Amino acid sequence: MRKITEKIKYIGVDDDELDLFESQYVVPEGMAYNSYLIEDEKIAVMDTVDARCGEAWLRNLEEALQGRKPDYLVMHHIEPDHSGMAAAFSERYPDAVILASAMGVRFLGQFAPDTTFRTQVVKEGDTVSLGAGELRFLSAPMVHWPEVMVSQYGQVLFSADAFGKFGSLGKCGFFIDEDDDWACEARRYYFNICGKYGSQVQALLKKVGAPEVICPLHGPILRGDLSEYLNLYNIWSSYGVETEGVFVAYASIHGCTKEAALRLAEMLREQGCPKVAVADLTRDDMAEAVEDAFRYGRMVLAASTYDAGLFTPAWNFLHTLQVKGWCKKKVALIENGTWAPMAAKVMTEMLTAMKDIEIVGTPVSLRSRMKASDVPALEALARAIQE
Ligand code: FEO
Repeated sequence: MRKITEKIKYIGVDDDELDLFESQYVVPEGMAYNSYLIEDEKIAVMDTVDARCGEAWLRNLEEALQGRKPDYLVMHHIEPDHSGMAAAFSERYPDAVILASAMGVRFLGQFAPDTTFRTQVVKEGDTVSLGAGELRFLSAPMVHWPEVMVSQYGQVLFSADAFGKFGSLGKCGFFIDEDDDWACEARRYYFNICGKYGSQVQALLKKVGAPEVICPLHGPILRGDLSEYLNLYNIWSSYGVETEGVFVAYASIHGCTKEAALRLAEMLREQGCPKVAVADLTRDDMAEAVEDAFRYGRMVLAASTYDAGLFTPAWNFLHTLQVKGWCKKKVALIENGTWAPMAAKVMTEMLTAMKDIEIVGTPVSLRSRMKASDVPALEALARAIQE
């Protein structure tokens, strides 16, 4: 059984069989549902796990308890990947009290409608003594649901979904120092799960101070020098530019729009662009394309016309960005159409409906296929997006 500190044990579970997290995100390295046990004079269990892994979690819990009975179950977040075993826990330990926000208690009743829970509502600033130490609660609404709370036990922050990451601990490492590329899957997780709620994440960052250990609900435990991770969360939640460069995303039906997009990517490199990332919106992971759209400050979007509008993968991408609150970016456009190009018009309409999105340069309109006379316009577009 792994220990985080002398008093905190890890009792979470790896899920390496999951096909899609939230039924939408691929998790090639699995997923971890983290849960912890604090062993003070009183015993607090920190969250449960997805019912998919319920039996393994109960075994971990029993082993950690070593015959003792838990006094509290802290429910930071009631989404089923964390509350999936709350009813089973309450049945097994009927005297344990569930600590959650008022909204959390309500949500718990909704997800387990015919279960009786012993609950105690906690709110911002409340403390609950465990003996030598105490739990201090901070509300974190919309990180990622409205009922979310985080808690502090000494210098350890139980951060709910914040600072989480796709990937099981067995594959990605238990502590952050075993995970040499935390940012990649943490970024994809952050922007797709919490991206819309930047201002709420900013508010939380201001409240938590400088923890020494962060215990999230997914992914490795963060310890040691946390400044890099706190700094990344600050950039991500303020919609800043993490990496200088241009993201080129294309949606091409027969490869002709792709040809122009790749040529433009080449031009960017030739013009000295520090980093050029490219995604095929018809085939690549959408969640990764969303991640890159947030990561860079500049994007070139190239798309075909389809059914007198925008080719569906590009429409889906822009719609997803809009839903996720994408903002503060510069965009340049390439469209293609054989008889009546419409893609640039639709992309412009969708982009202007978003906040702080600047369309730069003159959209390049291709007829079926890039020709030699289109090259100067593409080169001008490549310069415009970098200015
Ligand atoms: Fe990991 Fe929002 O649940």
